[in-house]
Amino acid sequence: ESTLGAAAQQTGRYFGTAIAAQKLGDSQYTTIANREFDMVTAENEMKIDATEPNRGQFNFTNGDRVYNWAVQNGKRVRGHTLAWHNQQPGWMQQLSGGSLRQAMIDHINGVMNHYKGKIYAWDVVNEAYADGNSGGRRDSNLQRTGNDWIEVAFRTARAADPAAKLCYNDYNIDNWNWAKTQGVYNMVRDFKSRGVPIDCVGLQSHFNSQSPYNSNYRTTIQSFAALGVDVQITELDIQGGSATTYANVVNDCLAVPRCTGITVWGVRDSDSWLGANTVPLLFDSNGNKKAAYTSVLNALNGG
Ligand code: G3I
Repeated sequence: ESTLGAAAQQTGRYFGTAIAAQKLGDSQYTTIANREFDMVTAENEMKIDATEPNRGQFNFTNGDRVYNWAVQNGKRVRGHTLAWHNQQPGWMQQLSGGSLRQAMIDHINGVMNHYKGKIYAWDVVNEAYADGNSGGRRDSNLQRTGNDWIEVAFRTARAADPAAKLCYNDYNIDNWNWAKTQGVYNMVRDFKSRGVPIDCVGLQSHFNSQSPYNSNYRTTIQSFAALGVDVQITELDIQGGSATTYANVVNDCLAVPRCTGITVWGVRDSDSWLGANTVPLLFDSNGNKKAAYTSVLNALNGG
C-alpha cells in the first residue's frame, strides 16, 4: 500500500493524526492529512476549555469542524479529552470538592451526548498519574475530589455513550521500568478486576532525550493488552525524527494483536507543538515525506 492509512488497514489497524481546526484552510495540510491518515484526533478542539467555556454552556463549533472534516473524508475520530487537570476553563479551575466532581460528570455527559455514537474511542481521563518515582496519582483539583474520580469518570462515560471505547491516556507510561507505567498498569488491573468500564490505554509516546524510546516498549504494550484492554499509540512524535525509532514503534505495535492503531501528533514538522526545529513528525515543514515516513510505511507494509 502507498499511504499510511491503507497500509495500516491491511493489518487491521488505523493510522491517525492530530488535526487543528485553524489549519483546515491550508490546502497542503489537508491534502496530506486526507491522503495519508484514516483516524483523526482534534488537537485542542474537544478539550474542556474549548467545549464548555462557561459552566453549562457547551460550544462545539471547532470540535465539529474537525469532526466534520474527518467524517466527510471517510475517517474515524478519537475524542480527546474529557477529564484533565490541564486546559480547564477558568470557572472549573475555581471549583473544588463536590461541585467540581459534579461539574466533571456534567461535562462528560454534555460532550459525550453531543458526539454520541460518533466517536471510536474517548480519552476519558488524561494524564492523571504523577511524574517521577512515586507511581501514584498526580496532585490536581480533580484528584483532591477523591481518589475515585477516575472510576467515576469512566462509569459516567460508559453510560453516556456505550458505543465508544473508553481509554485512559498518559505520557511516560511507555517505558515498562518506570514507576508511572506501573502505577497506571496497577490501576487498569484493578479496574478490570472490579468491573470498572475501561477498554483501552493510550500510550502518548512523546519521545525525546529525557524520555527516549526504550526497547521494552513492546513489553509495555503486551503487558497492558494482557489485562484485557486495547492499546493505542495516541500522540506519537520523536524529537529528531529518527527513522529507525519510528520503525521500532510501528513494529512493536504490529507485534501485539490488541495494539489497534497509531496516531502521530501532527502532520508536518511545522504543525508540531514542539516547534518545527525539533523535526519530530513524518512530513517536513514543506510537506515532503521524510525518511521517517518511508520507514513507517515500509514497516506497516511488512518490512
Ligand atoms: O488559540 C490560542 C491563540 O488564540 C493564542 O493567540 C495563542 C497564544 O499563546 O494560544 C493559542 O492557544 C494555544 C493552543 O495550543 C492552540 O495553538 C495554547 O496557548 C497552547 O497552550 C495549546 O497547546 C496545546 C497543548 O496541548 C496544551 O496543553 C498544544 O497545541 C497541543 O498539541 C497539546 O497537546 C497535548 C495533548 O492534548 C495531551 N498530551 C500532551 C500533548 C502535548 O503537550
